[in-house]
Amino acid sequence: MDKTILELKNISKSFGGVNALKNVSLNIEKGKVVGIVGENGAGKSTLMKIIVGALQPDSGEIFYKGKRVTFKTPLEAMNSGISIVYQEPNIFGDMSVLENLFLGNEELSKFGKINWDKMYENGKNALSLVDLPEDILSKNMNELSIGNQQLVLIARGVSQNCEVLILDEPTSILSYSETETLFKIIKRLQEEGVSILYISHRLEEITRITDSVVVLRDGEVTTSMKTEDVTEEKIISAMSGRTFNMDVFRKRDLSDVPTLIKVDNLSHRDYYSNVSFSIKKGEILGMYGLVGSGRSEVARTIFGDLLSSGGEIYFEGEKINNHDTKSAVERGIHYLPEDRGVQGLFNIHSVKYNMSASFIENFVGKFGFIDRKQEVKAVDDNINKYNIKLHSMDAKITSLSGGNQQKVLFSRWLLKQPKLLILDEPTRGVDIATKSEMHNYIMNLASEGVSILLISSDLTEVLMLSDRLIIMREGKLVGELNRDEFTEENVLRLSIGLQ
Ligand SMILES: Nc1ncnc2c1ncn2[C@@H]1O[C@H](COP(=O)(O)OP(=O)(O)OP(=O)(O)O)[C@@H](O)[C@H]1O
Ligand SMILES: [Mg+2]
Repeated sequence: MDKTILELKNISKSFGGVNALKNVSLNIEKGKVVGIVGENGAGKSTLMKIIVGALQPDSGEIFYKGKRVTFKTPLEAMNSGISIVYQEPNIFGDMSVLENLFLGNEELSKFGKINWDKMYENGKNALSLVDLPEDILSKNMNELSIGNQQLVLIARGVSQNCEVLILDEPTSILSYSETETLFKIIKRLQEEGVSILYISHRLEEITRITDSVVVLRDGEVTTSMKTEDVTEEKIISAMSGRTFNMDVFRKRDLSDVPTLIKVDNLSHRDYYSNVSFSIKKGEILGMYGLVGSGRSEVARTIFGDLLSSGGEIYFEGEKINNHDTKSAVERGIHYLPEDRGVQGLFNIHSVKYNMSASFIENFVGKFGFIDRKQEVKAVDDNINKYNIKLHSMDAKITSLSGGNQQKVLFSRWLLKQPKLLILDEPTRGVDIATKSEMHNYIMNLASEGVSILLISSDLTEVLMLSDRLIIMREGKLVGELNRDEFTEENVLRLSIGLQ
């Protein structure tokens, strides 16, 4: 019996001069979880968008349950049983959970009116598929945690008799326990015969939940293998064709080094209380905590983006409570925010603008005009140095792949060397090869005397890079570990509150 449910034949797609996909062929079997991996810009999201009709291929064919299909919209695909949860989630924050579940797909009565009772019933059933309670149906989406918003989108996808579910980096915004919930849901769906295409940059997830792995490189399939045959080296070399050093930590003697920043009993009415720590010059202080523990809010306060309600911040000995972001940048405090969608990127603008706007004064020439040549050179240097894949620096930032957008954000803060660099989830959505490059840059900066506050949910990352680690839980600092006390178990125990 043929178990194939979805077959792609020779799919190609280009954007202007970029060949995003070249003759990609794939077979997906019923009830299997297939991991899709590849470097940033390899074509993963493009391929997924083509399957559901969000993009049309230039050539190639798609067969679903034995029949050739050409979906014109993702809604059409969803109604036929193929759903997608995008990498950059489509959330309508001001609308209710119920509306988000059925947007564009409302239950209509005979007379063309929306049948709210029926929708409520369907909504309840949809949420039960992802273990969410029905009482959130009437809440606005933005009242939910990012993780639960993601689960609502998954519920939307699987509720329409889904047979193929596509998840494009679903865990990059999920906390530890939300990820566990997601994995349970995936297992359950799989047992019911749903096939899942799962994109992730986290190898430990890929090896844990998939049956097979497909590697894309520069728009081509380089390898597919059974998950039991996967090793880190095999995947990395199929992805990038190069090898690199994953262990970048360099020991520095920080005993006689002065403190750069000291945070003393810092409090915020809604988010955190009595947080105290200090960072030496050239030290990397890791900050770990579950999403919602208040870590990002502490960072935003130091950057002047959020006012504290108590406590002190001293920077180079000077009290800088409640300064604003402009003076923070002038003092040499730079901040890479967690949510590139909301806080980070100017979506309608070009890559060049996104990179240089914060430091445009760097490029002011003798007569007060902006020296565009110098600006272009600096931006170009960054693009090369950080290996950012793009068609042109004048391209809209949103035309870049997710990981490459993140690299633009990361590198823009380095156009001018900071004294304190606050990195909030710097490598979210970034592929393994680039991640290791970014880790190297972070280590180099620290060695040059830049202090770094590294906030990350990626435990491997904080443990590898940090000199010291502080752990937050529910708005409080609950522990501090020195490098010789670094174990996953120690960190998790503190962060979830076990003794
Ligand atoms: N709308 C678009 N316009 C122009 N180029 C695009 C567009 N969408 C994607 N591309 C280009 O196609 C290539 C593949 O991008 P894609 O988003 O599929 O990568 P990806 O494998 O999902 O990467 P990531 O891991 O960073 O999410 C990239 O070079 C990207 O810049
Ligand atoms: Mg992508």
